[in-house]
Amino acid sequence: MKIAFAGKGGVGKTTLCAWLGDYLARNGHDVILVDADTALSLGQASGLDAGDLPDPLSAREDLIRERIGSGFLSLNPDVSDLPDELSVNLPVAKAGNGRTGTKRLLTMGSITGAGDGCACAANALLKSVLAHLMLRERSVVLVDLEAGVEHLGRGTVEGVDGLVVVSEPSRRSLETAARVGALAAELGLSRQVLAVNRGIGEPRLPDLQGLPSAVVHVPALASLTARQLDQASVLGLEDGPGIDAVCARLMLALS
Ligand SMILES: Nc1ncnc2c1ncn2[C@@H]1O[C@H](COP(=O)(O)OP(=O)(O)O)[C@@H](O)[C@H]1O
Ligand SMILES: [Mg+2]
Repeated sequence: MKIAFAGKGGVGKTTLCAWLGDYLARNGHDVILVDADTALSLGQASGLDAGDLPDPLSAREDLIRERIGSGFLSLNPDVSDLPDELSVNLPVAKAGNGRTGTKRLLTMGSITGAGDGCACAANALLKSVLAHLMLRERSVVLVDLEAGVEHLGRGTVEGVDGLVVVSEPSRRSLETAARVGALAAELGLSRQVLAVNRGIGEPRLPDLQGLPSAVVHVPALASLTARQLDQASVLGLEDGPGIDAVCARLMLALS
């Protein structure tokens, strides 16, 4: 199962991605969380200290040179070992009697932030790893994207099972969500759910072309608002059962 999260900046993509990854791992799945947003915040949202974050792939000039080259670029390198090699383990709380799954974090980094080498070589490596994860990886893969869905690309989208389009209950944010939904549908990704985050109750949504028709409402959590003054982690909140119910609804909407 491969799920991507997209939407405008600041709407809650990283938070929902961290919640769903933790929920699935506690329920026995092996999960790879992929931070494909240049802000690189998924690790800390998942409870990792800043100092323990893995090096982003885009900063690994050695790997870029080795797999892609610098003159003639190899656009189809073998990257099957990289998800294991570059990811770090995140702790998973034991839940119930069943098997507890695993959770790993892989950070992609930004092309513009790539070292001295050619940005196109870094881009080629990032694309290859994302394509490998989406098309061949057997674990559950959750990808926290930058605002658009463009960098998923046509080839990669084939492997994506579902898209969570995150939005605040505001016109501007929903307009972005509608654009993301329409673009993803054009790429062939029709299994989509709109997560309306931080609404009061279940707000009535405007009728915008492209907005996913399946909707999950996510309440604003006072516990998270209080917590985030001191900590970046969005896990282990007292609202855990409510968050798990949101995650279950997201999975149902995408099934
Ligand atoms: N349901 C919620 N209730 C309270 N705070 C939230 C909620 N969802 C997200 N936040 C907070 O909003 C901010 C932006 O969320 P984030 O997940 O980083 O957005 P994005 O990844 O889309 O930029 C963070 O500080 C996060 O803790
Ligand atoms: Mg984010």
